[in-house]
Amino acid sequence: MTKPLNVGLIGYGFMGRTHSNAYRKAPHFFDLPYEPVLKTVCGLEEDQAKAFAQKWGYESYTTNWKEVVEDDKIDIVDICVPNNVHAEIAIACAKAGKAICCEKPLALNVAQAQEMVDAVEAAGVPNLVSFNYRRVPAVTLAKQLIDEGRLGRIFHYRANFLQDWTISTDVPQGGDATWRLDVKAAGSGVTGDLLAHCIDTAMWHNGQIDAVCGMTETFVKERMHAETGKVESVGIDDACTFFCRFGNGSLGNFESTRYARGHKALYTFEINGEHASIAWDLHDLHRLSYFDHRDDSIVRGWRSVHVTDGDMPYMDKWWVPGLQIGYEHTFVHQVADFLEAMDKGETAGPTFRDALATQKVCEAVLTSAKTSQWQNITY
Ligand SMILES: NC(=O)c1ccc[n+]([C@@H]2O[C@H](COP(=O)([O-])OP(=O)(O)OC[C@H]3O[C@@H](n4cnc5c(N)ncnc54)[C@H](O)[C@@H]3O)[C@@H](O)[C@H]2O)c1
Repeated sequence: MTKPLNVGLIGYGFMGRTHSNAYRKAPHFFDLPYEPVLKTVCGLEEDQAKAFAQKWGYESYTTNWKEVVEDDKIDIVDICVPNNVHAEIAIACAKAGKAICCEKPLALNVAQAQEMVDAVEAAGVPNLVSFNYRRVPAVTLAKQLIDEGRLGRIFHYRANFLQDWTISTDVPQGGDATWRLDVKAAGSGVTGDLLAHCIDTAMWHNGQIDAVCGMTETFVKERMHAETGKVESVGIDDACTFFCRFGNGSLGNFESTRYARGHKALYTFEINGEHASIAWDLHDLHRLSYFDHRDDSIVRGWRSVHVTDGDMPYMDKWWVPGLQIGYEHTFVHQVADFLEAMDKGETAGPTFRDALATQKVCEAVLTSAKTSQWQNITY
């Protein structure tokens, strides 16, 4: 029996669209215990909230997030606002007994993330953080291959997330989308925005990171603030590189920047094990590269696995073998997994607690960059 699940969405920007699309599509492709009902959308500008509600079929709109949290009819609150607003909304939602889906990074810093974990665990509410790349079928397949032991002992994990959209000094800090360049709204630069994704996936694949050594740079030191109109100093990291040691003894190497001319969203990872290696690239997200040393030498080489067959993660829910899916589907998978787990009283990771671990790694990387010292991480 499908039960209605009333959704309150806070934030109608980039993520507001991906999440709304996911709530609409998930019940058509997955047999879900709940039927999401798009109840209320909230955002800063009334005319935009109204237009968004009309476009996506939300029953109502508001500019005050507290109205969403206080509404008894809302079952799940989906937080798609800049990072500095996550904690206040999530803690209020936990106290109101709502299920919560929160965008990443969980918070501005570890202290705030810990308060959020305490709040959701004390309230016992279902909680999930939107590290959606875990749910690219090829990335999920990589996890399956590692867990099956096909790689053997893992030696190396390396990941990059490269963009090039902030090279111009004319890009402001603050405002829609460019709040990412304002440290008060974002908490950090590429470390929290981009590397957090790589860290979440890496710890899911390869276990916890025990120690980090990082280096950051802010290439453009001052930018106009969209809200004040004044030129202000820039507090975010434009680029970050770090090495790490995983608990299983493997070595990690991570890099992110928004100054890699020619790259728009080049998230890549490569994992080298004793028997086999895996590589993946967001620009070709439906393929997984796999090399297995145990193959006969005369046919040994990198295979490009087209992740579209029905026995591959999530793919039995979509089209027929050979037809691929894309970015939006990761959010559909996220909604499906979250609602299925919620119905069973289980959790679908990454939970707030998982995201706290990622926040700890990010913070340790930034501390290491400031102090030029390795940082050990305790969980
Ligand atoms: N999972 C991913 O891959 C991914 C990708 C992009 C962004 N994000 C995360 O999603 C979140 C939102 O990013 P975005 O790109 O959608 O931002 P955006 O700038 O496109 O949209 C932000 C929205 O938040 C609303 N908002 C801001 N302050 C508010 C407040 N006090 N009350 C109510 N609404 C408020 C704005 O009106 C706007 O609708 C961030 O935490 C970001 O890190 C995640």
